[in-house]
Amino acid sequence: MQDLLNFLDRSPSRYHAVANLCGELEAAGYVRLYEGQCQPIVPGGKYFVTRGGSALLAFRIPRADFTGFMISASHSDSPTFRIKENAELEGPETYVRLNTERYGGMLCAPWLDRPLPVAGQVMVKQGDDIQERLVYVDKDLLMIPNVAVHMNRDANNGFKYDAKCNMVPLMGMGLEKGAFRAAVAQAAGCRPEEILGTDLYLCLRQKALVWGAEDQFVSAQGLDDLQCAWGCFKGFLAAADSASVPVYALLDNEEIGSGTMQGAAGTFLVDWLDRICAALGRDRLPAIANSFLVSADNAHAVHPNHPEYHDAGHRPVMNGGVVIKHGVRYATDGASQAIFTALCRKADVPVQQFSNRSDMAGGSTLGNISNSHLSLNTVDIGLPQLAMHSCFETTGVKDTQYLIQVMTLFYGSVFREEAGRFFLGE
Ligand code: CO
Repeated sequence: MQDLLNFLDRSPSRYHAVANLCGELEAAGYVRLYEGQCQPIVPGGKYFVTRGGSALLAFRIPRADFTGFMISASHSDSPTFRIKENAELEGPETYVRLNTERYGGMLCAPWLDRPLPVAGQVMVKQGDDIQERLVYVDKDLLMIPNVAVHMNRDANNGFKYDAKCNMVPLMGMGLEKGAFRAAVAQAAGCRPEEILGTDLYLCLRQKALVWGAEDQFVSAQGLDDLQCAWGCFKGFLAAADSASVPVYALLDNEEIGSGTMQGAAGTFLVDWLDRICAALGRDRLPAIANSFLVSADNAHAVHPNHPEYHDAGHRPVMNGGVVIKHGVRYATDGASQAIFTALCRKADVPVQQFSNRSDMAGGSTLGNISNSHLSLNTVDIGLPQLAMHSCFETTGVKDTQYLIQVMTLFYGSVFREEAGRFFLGE
């Protein structure tokens, strides 16, 4: 559990999350590949590659021929506020605020009255190069102040948060022009004029924590989806070798529809499966047909104050195990459900079922988006959590370990499909 908390604390942005996992892969002897270079991929090799600094793929090639790909996909981003290019807003009075826009479908209220640092990456001009550089302004830099209840008598009666007006963070009073850029440059270790591009987001400085009378809950920023990202990653690293290629995928921009070069609607995953097949002289179609995708993105636990929002018979609880998600916007079907359920039984991991209440649309995730480019047997799963898309979410202490357990078994398995018969084993 402590290593999940450490990972969350060291990952104030998606770029940090990817960099942290890259560090672990390097330490475990994985070779870094670059998309623009023709580096060899050979039997027995272990590799990873990133795209845009916010998406990551890692894979291992078996020593002998392989059957297919055992893939997990989760997402690195979470809803937040993106800082605009010319961010400093002067006034009213001597106030200096930062201009931001909503990134994803967040709950607005939890962002108010909290100290907010800034994290992400910047592009820095160094000689003839432009280099990516991680940035974390490790300071209580900003706050989005609430309006006093005396001036907003509707504050507790369904208040409408307008991003342009109500969600603008305050940075200071009477500051010199360029103070924000100067703070970012200092954190990046460069001069303000060397920053040519930015991908900066608000985040929390609040550390991840375990709480409750019997320490049953974990709360942190970004649990959706870094908890699944972490659980799948640990399973990927721990798995035994098999006749499959285990592929770990962490993709960006799920919260804004995945339609970017780093997202599930982009070609990152399929490009590299093709590359692996080509490097090892394999036909793509049978390799994909004998592959399985676990799309891992957090699920809704039944809410203590609002159990009625959940569907009868589909009420996952925290610390109750991995959740299989069913519905028209999910990729799960009877076959993938059966295969994943059998896997959980073998791994001794409890399984729960989620389906939207029939009059609610619910959310969607990576599975069906990814399948429109790369079609293969896919199950949508997640870990049960409360307050999804709050900036401080809550989950159970036991469930990450359940995910690691089942993904360790998954990644060490071989999947085959022949005329309506499925095989999953070692
Ligand atoms: Co998610």
